[in-house]
Amino acid sequence: MTPQVRKVARIIEPRPVLEGAGVRLIRSIATAELDHVDPFLLFDHFGSSNPDDYMKGFPMHPHRGIETVTYMISGRVNHKDSIGNSGSITDGDVQWMTTGRGILHEEMPQQIEGEMKGFQLWVNLPARLKKTAPRYQNITSDQIPEVQQDDGVIIRVIAGQVDGVNGPVKEIAADPIYLDVSVPAHASYAQPVADDNAAIAYVFEGEGDFGANGSTQKSLVGQPRLIVFGDGDLVSVRAGDQGVRFVLMAGKPINEPIARYGPFVMNTQAEIEQTLQEIQNGTFIRN
Ligand code: CO
Repeated sequence: MTPQVRKVARIIEPRPVLEGAGVRLIRSIATAELDHVDPFLLFDHFGSSNPDDYMKGFPMHPHRGIETVTYMISGRVNHKDSIGNSGSITDGDVQWMTTGRGILHEEMPQQIEGEMKGFQLWVNLPARLKKTAPRYQNITSDQIPEVQQDDGVIIRVIAGQVDGVNGPVKEIAADPIYLDVSVPAHASYAQPVADDNAAIAYVFEGEGDFGANGSTQKSLVGQPRLIVFGDGDLVSVRAGDQGVRFVLMAGKPINEPIARYGPFVMNTQAEIEQTLQEIQNGTFIRN
């Protein structure tokens, strides 16, 4: 059977937001325009060479019921959390945190020169895992395999599989794909994505024709934009004149009710209220 190429269903222009203690970033998921793409609950892009935009950072704050995924393209952030982890995330590193029933953490930018650039993705947890012990996968850049294909296409495999090469992130409920894909000018790339998965891509350099070979209409998308793909089992792109670089994310929808309030995502409003009560009376963290 011929694989069905996914068409571009939606193109989302990121919105500027102020997050943490005053960090300027742009958001494509968790906005009035796009609340979520099950299992993905939020997508933020931070990128600035001006320390005023990021130095205030993200001081100690709680999370419950989700996974937060930080991918640093460039820069340095120090982190620490209530389960005893601390360290720094730098160029090319990934922090995949499964918050489960609750964690407190902080992420504070350290650099004062050069570009601070990266992404944060939130992935939902099914009800049965929202109350598990928090857990954390710290993936340094050198642990992320790089697959080279014809025409100079380079894929960093954070989660999922490309040409038989597996990413280092393991045992995640949504069984996700998370790839950083660089395609030189006019070259093409295609990635199989199971048809029961949701698939999104965030274009952050150049532009490309997504849905190439599968649609009669050209869908040239330039940075910065989030693409939500339609049904199919292949994501395909042909790069434009400057090439294109994007992160491609896919995962199994959780298909459960979503009740969200700030850093907490549960199934019901009652669970959100319970969480806020625990924060108030100091019983939120139970390690
Ligand atoms: Co956080």
